[in-house]
Amino acid sequence: MISVKLTQQAFWQNNVEGYVIPLKKDLAPLSTENLLEHIEEHYYPHLKELLKKHQFDGEKGQTFTLTGKKADTLVQFLFVGVGTMLGSWHQELETFRRAVAAGILMAKKNYLNDVAIALPAGSIFNISDNELAKQMAILAHMAIYEFTTFKTDKKRAPWAGTLFLCPAHPELVERASSQSEKERAVEVGNIIGAAINQARHWADLPANHMTPTVLASEAERIAIKHGFKATVFGREKALELQMGGFCAVDAGSEQEGKFVVLEYKTKAPNAPTIALCGKGVIFDTGGINLKPTSGISGMKFDMSGAAAVITVMDIIGQLKPNVNVIGLTPLVENMPSGKAARPDDVITCMNGKTVEIQNTDAEGRLILSDTLCYAEKYFKPDVMLDIATLTGAVQHALGHFYTGVMTKDDALADALIAMGRKTGDRSWQLPMDDDFKGAIRSDVADIHNNGSSAYFAGTIVGATFLSNFVEKARWAHLDIAGTAHDVPAINYVGKGSTGAGIRLLTEFVMTFTEQAKN
Ligand code: BES
Ligand code: ZN
Ligand code: MN
Repeated sequence: MISVKLTQQAFWQNNVEGYVIPLKKDLAPLSTENLLEHIEEHYYPHLKELLKKHQFDGEKGQTFTLTGKKADTLVQFLFVGVGTMLGSWHQELETFRRAVAAGILMAKKNYLNDVAIALPAGSIFNISDNELAKQMAILAHMAIYEFTTFKTDKKRAPWAGTLFLCPAHPELVERASSQSEKERAVEVGNIIGAAINQARHWADLPANHMTPTVLASEAERIAIKHGFKATVFGREKALELQMGGFCAVDAGSEQEGKFVVLEYKTKAPNAPTIALCGKGVIFDTGGINLKPTSGISGMKFDMSGAAAVITVMDIIGQLKPNVNVIGLTPLVENMPSGKAARPDDVITCMNGKTVEIQNTDAEGRLILSDTLCYAEKYFKPDVMLDIATLTGAVQHALGHFYTGVMTKDDALADALIAMGRKTGDRSWQLPMDDDFKGAIRSDVADIHNNGSSAYFAGTIVGATFLSNFVEKARWAHLDIAGTAHDVPAINYVGKGSTGAGIRLLTEFVMTFTEQAKN
């Protein structure tokens, strides 16, 4: 665990064991503090020479540590390079996130009890000081996450440190924002960061420990905590509601599937309603169209969308936005068995549409079809977002750093892309229009679930399938199959689950009433 706090003291006045010092190329400071001068004066008179000698000159990604003695205690200076900072604001904001993460990771590795960092003005990244402080709090939690549940060799207690955020020139910057607003920003960051790690933990748990029942009970626990209405049902009720997609995927497993609905109602009058739908395939074997060895490992992460939605509901319960939010997650295990759905089977979804199952491995769209229908039928949301590890193809289209956004609503896509830039939870739009409908035309049913290979574009075809189950709401589909787990190169997401989409959805929900005004 890490706790992030705001400090009102001037940077060097903080009695901490470590100081994170971001430096630009050629050792230019990023914040207005006298960082190098102070170290030169009190610890290392030839600091710049020393840094250069050790090949540290503030290049992006570089790190270097020096230790000094302050009164009776050892202190460490954790230098992190941010490069020239001449790119666009969102790229440099991401550079800064990673530099700060590198500092925090060094503090963790060196087992420092507490570290401080002087923040630059948020305006250099096009955001407010408070937003920057919030984001740094979120980042600190993300950076130190580790999945250690099954490591029996616990040599030492897990690191529990404190990060002090020192806003630059506290007396000058943003006079308008009060101390309590600043503290609140950091508190919000702590809430979001801790929640992201909770979702990552759920996703990292393998399917023999994380079943539909376990995740449903986590959702119920969150509902009780915040006083949400929770609806949880299994096979029998799903059959009764004619959720043919959910039932077909659920049929093959010994573990009964659970359909979970959490309802957050704002006290604000006449507020709009957002529905968040998250794919919750606890493990995706592919079903009767069994995945090959190369494709099956990592399929414990196929519930990352559901974990994101449940976690966002937990965040909402704490932040209480002025908008109604419904979180819906179909939780199933896609298994082959004598009871499993077969290729060629035809099922009827909740809205009466028939689907030819050409491939039991295209199961995400089958469970989401009923989820989207359910959301519209019972809640009439103004906006629906679904989040799903839906297609391997999105990894080819966008790689690991961008979540795929598909919608016919340009304003919605633009808003999501902008929020991705601001929060670091990046997304990029893929096109979606009626030309792709031909890819799921079936000879025997209304549509089929596989997508004709003649059309390629598997990610867009998946979104096109889902569009058959949305009638009135504004809707966007987020494909996180590339971003949800095992993302290389980003130091603050590490191994395993990344918590993709949580920062994005949180930003969407928290700013929704603002957006609606525009
Ligand atoms: N869960 C997978 C998608 C996936 C693949 C997620 C790789 C993460 C990494 C999904 O259910 C799936 O199997 N999709 C198929 C769809 C196809 C059969 C139309 C795919 O991507 O191959
Ligand atoms: Zn899947
Ligand atoms: Mn699949």
